[in-house]
Amino acid sequence: MLNTTGLRLDQGPPIHVPFRFFLTAPFFTVLSALALLHQGEALLASRWVPGTLAITHWMAIGFLGQIMAGTLLQMLPVIAGAPVPRVQHFGWVLHLSLSMGAALLGAGLWYSHPPLLLTGALLAALGFSALLLAIWLALYRRRGSGQQIRGIGFAAFSLGVTVLFGFLLAATLGGWLQLSDLLVWVNLHLAWAFLGWVGLLIASISIQLVPLFYVTPNYPVWLIRSLGPLILLALCLGTLFALFQQPAAARVAFGTAVAAWMVFGSITLYLQHERRRQRMDPTLLHWWVALLCALVAGILWSLEGPPVVLGILLFFGLATGLSAGMLFKIIPFLTWFHLQSQQLGAGHLRVRVPNMRTLLPENWAYLQVALHLIALLCLLAAWAEPSWTSLAACFLGSEAVILLVLILRNLWYFRRVAGRISAASSAQA
Ligand code: HEM
Repeated sequence: MLNTTGLRLDQGPPIHVPFRFFLTAPFFTVLSALALLHQGEALLASRWVPGTLAITHWMAIGFLGQIMAGTLLQMLPVIAGAPVPRVQHFGWVLHLSLSMGAALLGAGLWYSHPPLLLTGALLAALGFSALLLAIWLALYRRRGSGQQIRGIGFAAFSLGVTVLFGFLLAATLGGWLQLSDLLVWVNLHLAWAFLGWVGLLIASISIQLVPLFYVTPNYPVWLIRSLGPLILLALCLGTLFALFQQPAAARVAFGTAVAAWMVFGSITLYLQHERRRQRMDPTLLHWWVALLCALVAGILWSLEGPPVVLGILLFFGLATGLSAGMLFKIIPFLTWFHLQSQQLGAGHLRVRVPNMRTLLPENWAYLQVALHLIALLCLLAAWAEPSWTSLAACFLGSEAVILLVLILRNLWYFRRVAGRISAASSAQA
């Protein structure tokens, strides 16, 4: 049973708005897998290999950015109780600019081609600006003062800083600007990206969805209240220290943010352990692998571990796995909810709406989790022994294809059952 208390589900956008993002995202994982197959062993040698930087942004913007944008467009009106105005237009602009931006930025980094790089950076910045505007509107028009929406506000602020720093970096690489000490700026860009944007967004969405989807106790109030402000303060201080060349103080500040997120991750694992229904479910496996990767990444970071391993753990372990885990819950729920609403709106209950297990068959979901886990292990092995790279690429591509098939299957069910509901309404009239 889902606990939907406090959510205003009728405020969400039409189903095709979030689905467009969810359907595009796996293509960027396939693209990254093909790049790994093509350039293979060279890519995991260093964080500065052009192909590695390209994959970073195909995954960061093309995969993760799309899923986060689709989820937010769906969730913001539900949590804030006020619809995003002109959500279909927002959806179009956001989707096109993020997709094109990710593709071109990645290509520009890969080929070290300034016009491609700058066009991609401009488009990605445009897409993220549209997302920030949607978040700002939801915050501005919200009813009530939810902590979750405040958390999303903090994540949005971090996204703004990430995009600004990313754009400055792209402008420097493209010859428009001259930033001294590029490494400091790159590190600031990725700190705001992971700890602020990705970290705080995952935390805010989890605080809303983990008790809802797994029927767990709620997160402690002190954590909900303090996590966002603490991480944001630590990031701001860390940035100032880094820019004023105080590396030791900057590390303490960023370390505080990492530790705060690790506390959140550990509490999430504990709450999931305390869930009311102890049944195993493939999404839980995704959560556990993702959180474990994040915790290991936190420890490795504090030990100054290899950046490529950190990147694998954060992008492929945390972000890709958790996104798939969330999609496995969100997608069948949205399909079911929209069909049920359509039927209620039509004033009859004649058509049987498939339940969530039918919409997302567990054996396929387990297969996707297994492929994900193997891909992750192969990627880690490939860092130590490059000959594993091709195998890692094959598993990465396969997990993305299965994800795509599962999303398409939901869309197919939606179209079929929605058609039956319309036909039943016409017959009734
Ligand atoms: C408009 C959006 C963005 C632009 C224009 C952008 C641009 C850039 C550029 C130019 C670099 C430096 C490449 C180099 O030094 O050769 C970089 C590095 C990086 N970016 Fe972005 N970026 C954007 C968004 C993001 C997002 C959303 C994430 C993560 C969620 C991200 C993650 C990273 C990481 C991890 C690195 C460092 C890679 C490494 O050091 O191994 N970027 N970005």
